Amino acid sequence: MSDTGPVLFFDSGLGGLTVLREARYLLPYEQFLYVADDAAFPIGRWQETELKARLLTLFDDLIARHAPKAVVIACNTAFTLAGEALREAHPGLPFVGTVPAIKPAAERTSSGLISVLATPGTVRRTYTKSLIDSFAGKCHVRLVGSDALAELAERHLRGDRVADEELLAEISDCFLEQDGLRTDIVVLACTHYPFLANRFRKIAPWPVDWLDPAEAIARQLVRVLGEGAATQPSQGPDRAVFTSNPKEAALIRLLAGFGLALV
Ligand code: DGL
Repeated sequence: MSDTGPVLFFDSGLGGLTVLREARYLLPYEQFLYVADDAAFPIGRWQETELKARLLTLFDDLIARHAPKAVVIACNTAFTLAGEALREAHPGLPFVGTVPAIKPAAERTSSGLISVLATPGTVRRTYTKSLIDSFAGKCHVRLVGSDALAELAERHLRGDRVADEELLAEISDCFLEQDGLRTDIVVLACTHYPFLANRFRKIAPWPVDWLDPAEAIARQLVRVLGEGAATQPSQGPDRAVFTSNPKEAALIRLLAGFGLALV
């Protein structure tokens, strides 16, 4: 592990910021670099072969350029597809991943009815199916793939109006009633969705636990860094790199609110 490089956070857009904000609480002195492959957004719609190839090439470049001490793939869609290949391609570099929180949901549910709200890509993954087989054999797990929610989350975050009806259309399949039992946990298996959790709570047909794994991912990063975690404040602001090279003032302000300078 290099001692000096930043911790590189990756997502296709703004979703990984839900994980970064938790990491900041636990690692106040760490230098973070936030990378968004927004030129490819939303990646939940991409075919697996093309997306995997894109991610591997992009990471070769990012790692050569920034020499991170650790990488957090703050994106279910990317990690469930390419996590293993990225680790193999960069031995010695710690990767912290994001996967649908099916195991904690299965441990916590009372009704045994769990829904996993994710991108269409994450819902299709073999990785997701194997998590269900390994950890939720006794539960009824409903996979709900949303084509639109990641974009709606970005619109919401940028201050655009997003109607309740648009959100309800995307989440209503999560709510299942069966033999007098109801879904009691919805796993937020896309890092964009926690930005909408308060909206979801208000429009849900009944109260459920919306499971956001961000804090658990941040804790895993702390474990992985171990003694390598920074103990002195870092120099200068944390930086953000967006692959489409955007210049909008609104985005620059939004990122500044997350403590990031767009470069
Ligand atoms: N934030 C990403 C995830 O956790 C997906 C967003 C996208 O479709 O690009 O899966």
